[in-house]
Amino acid sequence: MNSAGENHPYELAKVAADYVVKKFAGQHDILAVLGSGWAHAASVLDATNEISVTDIPGFTKPSAIGHGGTLKSVSVGKSRVLLLTGRTHLYEGHGVNSVVHAVRTAAFAGCKTVVLTNAAGCLRQDWGVGATALISDHINLTGFSPLTGADAPAPLHGRFVDLTDAYSLRLRTIAKSVDSNLHEGIYMGFHGPHFETPAEIRAARIWGADLVGMSTVMETIAARHMGMEVLALSLATNLAAGISGEKLSGDDVVAFGKASATRVGSLLANILKQIDIENNKP
Ligand code: HPA
Repeated sequence: MNSAGENHPYELAKVAADYVVKKFAGQHDILAVLGSGWAHAASVLDATNEISVTDIPGFTKPSAIGHGGTLKSVSVGKSRVLLLTGRTHLYEGHGVNSVVHAVRTAAFAGCKTVVLTNAAGCLRQDWGVGATALISDHINLTGFSPLTGADAPAPLHGRFVDLTDAYSLRLRTIAKSVDSNLHEGIYMGFHGPHFETPAEIRAARIWGADLVGMSTVMETIAARHMGMEVLALSLATNLAAGISGEKLSGDDVVAFGKASATRVGSLLANILKQIDIENNKP
């Protein structure tokens, strides 16, 4: 069994949730996962408490540059939000259950909503680098599913999860009410960590992708399986391979994310505030 308990991923997530609930003295409502470039949200929102993910059962410390290793507890209006300052990616090689462990833990710790953020390559020159976009649907090209393996225990059993409305229209509408300039598009998830070839990007365009990246799709599938509502946002850190003629570099992606941190961090904080208001309407 690996660190995220490939044999019993749900039992391990329950153990992790018990730890988080105890450490943060109670349940939470929303999980927000901060991808590259989104970490500033953690400083815009005042954390009441934080723990290192290495102390939480089954968590792996993210090794990707630009990803932190803490879980913070933040109050946003009446909502209690878990902020994860970095995620685990498939390409880190710890297995798919590690990638979705935070989502399952948050679900067992009470979260009904998950907000996923990421850095992405952009296929839309008309949007341009720096664009922020809501993911309206995805194409999973990783070849993986978090629902492979032993079926989940009741009441979660049933692996044939419907993904028709994977990305909540209600939450996208709330996000657009915060920023009407948000684009909306299809995210194609690749395994990575290599960037795509120009030929793959041309194929992605034909298949209808607007954005490409190496995260988010596993977490979305796991969250839907756990009955959570999903909102996902991308920051376009670069034009996808072959579009501009320039070479891609991981360092440039992280540097661009850092330069956009204040803008997208504030956007995320405002979206969380609006979700809280809408969720708590009488
Ligand atoms: N491809 C895949 N993942 C990414 C990219 C990209 O161009 N930019 C940021 N994350």
